[in-house]
Amino acid sequence: MIRELRESDLPRVLEIECTSFDAPWSEGMLRDDLARSDRVWRVAEVGGRIVAFGGIMVIASEAHVMDIAVDGDHRREGYARELLVALVAEAAARGAKRMTLEVRESNAEALALYASCGFDVAGRRTGYYPETAEDALVMWSRPIGPQSHAVAAARAGEDLILAVETSCDETAASVMRGGREELASVVASQIDFHARFGGVVPEIASRKHTEAIVAVAEEALVKAGVGFGDLHALAVTQGPGLVGALVVGLAYAKGLALATGLPLVGVNHLEGHIYAARLLDAELAPPFVALLVSGGHTLIVHVPAWGHYELLGRTLDDAAGEAFDKVAKLLGLGYPGGPVISRLAESGDAAAIAFPRPMLKSGNLDVSLSGLKTAVIQYVEAERAAGRDLSLPDIAASFQAAVIDVQVAKTLRAATEHAVKAVVLAGGVAANPALREGLRAALATEGITLSVPPLGLCTDNASMIAAAAHDRLAAGRVLGLSADAVPNLRLGA
Ligand code: KG4
Ligand code: ZN
Repeated sequence: MIRELRESDLPRVLEIECTSFDAPWSEGMLRDDLARSDRVWRVAEVGGRIVAFGGIMVIASEAHVMDIAVDGDHRREGYARELLVALVAEAAARGAKRMTLEVRESNAEALALYASCGFDVAGRRTGYYPETAEDALVMWSRPIGPQSHAVAAARAGEDLILAVETSCDETAASVMRGGREELASVVASQIDFHARFGGVVPEIASRKHTEAIVAVAEEALVKAGVGFGDLHALAVTQGPGLVGALVVGLAYAKGLALATGLPLVGVNHLEGHIYAARLLDAELAPPFVALLVSGGHTLIVHVPAWGHYELLGRTLDDAAGEAFDKVAKLLGLGYPGGPVISRLAESGDAAAIAFPRPMLKSGNLDVSLSGLKTAVIQYVEAERAAGRDLSLPDIAASFQAAVIDVQVAKTLRAATEHAVKAVVLAGGVAANPALREGLRAALATEGITLSVPPLGLCTDNASMIAAAAHDRLAAGRVLGLSADAVPNLRLGA
């Protein structure tokens, strides 16, 4: 709970202050400050005990953060962010437009906190801290009125977000209310431009995103029947993905944020894939295990709560979608390979060829797919050398069955080890009907339910980004305009 700091709180507050800083505020300074009308002091309380406190000074249109301190036993539990969100709201209510603060250059944790609340480094005060002669970095927030309004709307489930996604080969935009109600979703696929090269060509992806992004976002707004003035926030995929593709969405979103003053939320693409499941299944609630299988990733993740991720297993080489794409290329079936192989597999015999199941019994939750791909290559070469006709449906079905067997076994094991009652299947490869059914049947034997997004939400789209952005916004997580694309962004970072 966040409440006003009262004079009777001073002993406990000073205890926290003195254990947090080399040059703490004195009791007299704090007492004098509390009496001033242009100051705002708040405490965070848990079970009647103060665990953090902070204060700002509001002068005309500017608010200055003077102090934020958290009890040593309660660091990294989100209290500093909660305090900052409350202080921003109060500053905005008092008419402040922006907020500023100084932070020690060596205080990486504080710098990360402020950056994740929309502050950018704007300058440096040399030798600002007299005890150590250390420099202070000066940070400024983005417009705090719209930010505080957006956080409040998200907490009430009423936020309207425009999200864009350009991490790979689809340019996508979506307008979403309350993180769950999709008002419009537009996906412009570039697949035709990449197909003739047998895979995504980064330079082409980047150029096509640049050509499409403005029209795609405008189409989403028109379909949703809203204008920029109706929005509470903008959201964008910050990573992981192709850097030249990510920067297009980020530059567009930052430009819009600058022009409109709206807060900007950065979303992890993989987190987006997991959130896609919530759009279908409103009841879905953690804890659950997610199997995330896309063109770039294969991950098994334990999700104890929304926004918290524990990586349990991953591919040691090729991603699941990549294996489908490479085998399809080998068989001359074009790009992307997943849909063609799964269609062909329907008329093939999955037991026709005994392809290996790498790592099936490895004892951990990692998978490896390149050995299976090599086995398919060797099989095809041997059959061709022997002059035998290839049965594409049988190869497709047998290869697909090998991939699925391993994914299903590992996911089932992860789910039972973590005693979860639900599994989420996400990412482009989740569009594979045999994987969906195989996993559903295996989990059912243990009484575990499977949530799979509808096909259009499995492959890349911006609604999943908007859904994840809603939760981040409600937590007060926004980007400053100096934020960059992070091509290898980790889940949970
Ligand atoms: O998630 P996504 O759209 O893009 C990435 O973030 O990578 O996933 C694309 C991948 C491609 O590798 C594609 O071949 C695969 O998903 N895929 C499939 C199927 N549909 C798409 N893989 C297997 N079976 C499918 N039906
Ligand atoms: Zn994806």
